[in-house]
Amino acid sequence: MTEQVRTAINEGIATITLDNPPVNALGAALRGAFMAAFEAAMADPSVRVVILAAAGRTWPAGADIGEFGRPPVAPQLPELCAAVARSAKPVIAALHGTVLGGGLELALAAGVRLAEPGTTLGLPEVSLGILPGAGGTQRLPRLIGAKPALGLMLSGLPIAAERALDLGLIDAVSEGGAATAAEGLARAYLAGTAELPTAAERAGGRAPDAEGWLSAVAAARAGLGNPRLPAPGRIIDCVEAALLLPEDEGFVFEGAAFAELVATPEAAALRHAFLAERRAMRQNDPGRVAAREIHRAGVVGGGPLGAGIAVALLGAGLSVTLVERDQTALAAGLARVATLHERAVEKGRLTPEAREAEWARISGATDFGALATADLIVEAVPEDEALKTQVFADLGRVAKRKAVLATATSHVDLNRLAAASSRPEDVIGLHVLGPVQGTKLLEVVVGAGTAPEVTATGFALAKRLGKIAVRSGVCDGFIGNRVLNAWRTAMDFLLEDGATPCEIDRAMREFGFPLGPYQGLDIAGLDLGWARRKRLSLRRDPARRYVAIGDRLCEAGRFGQKAGKGYYLYPEGGGKGVEDPEVLALIAAERQAKGLVARKVGAEEIRRRALAAMANEGARLLEEGIARCPSDIDVVMLAGGGFPRWRGGPMMAADQAGLLVIRNDLRDFAREEDAFWRPAVIWDELIKNGLAFADLNRI
Ligand code: CAA
Repeated sequence: MTEQVRTAINEGIATITLDNPPVNALGAALRGAFMAAFEAAMADPSVRVVILAAAGRTWPAGADIGEFGRPPVAPQLPELCAAVARSAKPVIAALHGTVLGGGLELALAAGVRLAEPGTTLGLPEVSLGILPGAGGTQRLPRLIGAKPALGLMLSGLPIAAERALDLGLIDAVSEGGAATAAEGLARAYLAGTAELPTAAERAGGRAPDAEGWLSAVAAARAGLGNPRLPAPGRIIDCVEAALLLPEDEGFVFEGAAFAELVATPEAAALRHAFLAERRAMRQNDPGRVAAREIHRAGVVGGGPLGAGIAVALLGAGLSVTLVERDQTALAAGLARVATLHERAVEKGRLTPEAREAEWARISGATDFGALATADLIVEAVPEDEALKTQVFADLGRVAKRKAVLATATSHVDLNRLAAASSRPEDVIGLHVLGPVQGTKLLEVVVGAGTAPEVTATGFALAKRLGKIAVRSGVCDGFIGNRVLNAWRTAMDFLLEDGATPCEIDRAMREFGFPLGPYQGLDIAGLDLGWARRKRLSLRRDPARRYVAIGDRLCEAGRFGQKAGKGYYLYPEGGGKGVEDPEVLALIAAERQAKGLVARKVGAEEIRRRALAAMANEGARLLEEGIARCPSDIDVVMLAGGGFPRWRGGPMMAADQAGLLVIRNDLRDFAREEDAFWRPAVIWDELIKNGLAFADLNRI
């Protein structure tokens, strides 16, 4: 292993280079070595200027995520930053790559910051439920002012070097390499031709605009969103403290706020979500096989799903051939692509020039022969097994060797489609839960015969599309729809028992979902689910409790928002629905028909049943081997199911609630309806061994 920190001393300039691939994370070993190197440079009388630089692809991208949630090891980052900030010798931070979190805080402690073009800088701590705890909340507003500092810290989003220069966050954007520029500056300083202040000299420079500072603090407080998330409020408190308290007390204030936040369940859930997404994207196939190269894509089917997929592929830089059964359908499909592009331009997500460039990369055809050169073909025809089987049989004949054949199906058995293609190793599922452009999640469905390199290609494609990928096995609905359906079923039982759609939706919004299940169904349209239920009606087990309220609504033409009525009434045609006495009467009639008597259902019970249903379905997905690990289920529900991120997902929330509590709830509920509520076996196994779902996240 190479040294994580190296020092080179040359003509009075000590260059301390951090070298901890891949992203120079500020782990314990690096911190210890850095402290020793920095103290040595301070003690060495021949050293007059210190340059901090990083080897490899980036300046430190923050704390080491491997140390998240572990007991802290000295020296900690605040000590490092304090040592740099009190240096009597000028310190230049030479930045490149992604200067994030603790990495930016280290840079803020230096007297001068130079960055290469292409560098991005940010403080993403808020997204982890914490705040910059190594002096960042104090040094940043003093350097660039309270308003932009709050903007950076409350959004958590990175900015480009040029913007950082405008804000005064860095002192120069240097062509030809930040380290080289830093060396040039250090030499000029030593030659007496340039100034090089220490951090202390710089901080003492100017008095802050107290009025502007306090009004920025007040405006930020007034704009605070979710009161369940404590970090934004504490960041604002710290920025206020940076004005009102003496410097040392400000750091102490920040330290206390950091310690308080890091221990909250919200921060634990956000850390879990962060790690879970990275785990989901990491594949453990033997030898980490390489993905196949994808340049040209084909999409079969120009309906809303196919057009959405085509637009996503174009956006990822691929050329796309859209295939439809005849010229009329093809023209309609291409028109859908044009409309999606138009909307993206209107919303500022795409420049008109980029749209032209993307449009130049799409072509249309009515013959599968046009797909002979495609590296990837995505089937997105209607959910009809016979039709999809035929498409895969045709693709198996026309596609070139090693082309990846993907299906966007939600329900048809991927293994049967793979068999129809006669090349199951090339077949994969790419499932988007919701509209392609609006959903961050891609379920990569791996069939019995899918080759590892094809799985790797699915994951690489997701990254190119800017989506979070989760691996799912083959089953009806995959991970996302299985969990969402379990949630809806549990809520439907409660409708019949006595709750109203409005009460259920409100209870789930209070839990943190942006929308309740019935609001969601009204937006998505009730007819899709209805058609599917009708298709499956013959296969339904008559012994299972079946709530027909959704069917009755559809029979009455209440297809949701688009029809002006669904579970709610939409007098304005859209927007927020209002409670409709007709729906309440319909629910009461269904209840009566089953001989049930309405009972009072409280918000707490709604939430308990919702969580128990989701987590139990997750447990079943684990037992069936459909999901690799509990955190993959969490990622699906966070990225695609609207589950509040600060609760970490249903499996994390089950851990936090206590497995015994939820297992006992399930047992109680199972007395009413065993087939749905029976606890999966895994609950007892975990409880018996003193484990939690988190203990299964070892991939
Ligand atoms: N610690 C340890 N390893 C890290 C890491 C970190 N902070 N960030 C990334 N890595 C690792 C990844 O796990 C990955 O490793 P493998 O190749 O072995 O899987 C490798 O670096 C490359 O990462 P990506 O595939 O994500 O590469 P990318 O080029 O797409 O993105 C990145 C690079 C922008 C730095 C991205 O990895 C990222 O956003 N990382 C997290 C940054 C972050 O949030 N840091 C913590 C800030 S909080 C903080 O610092 C405050 C504090 O003190 C507590």
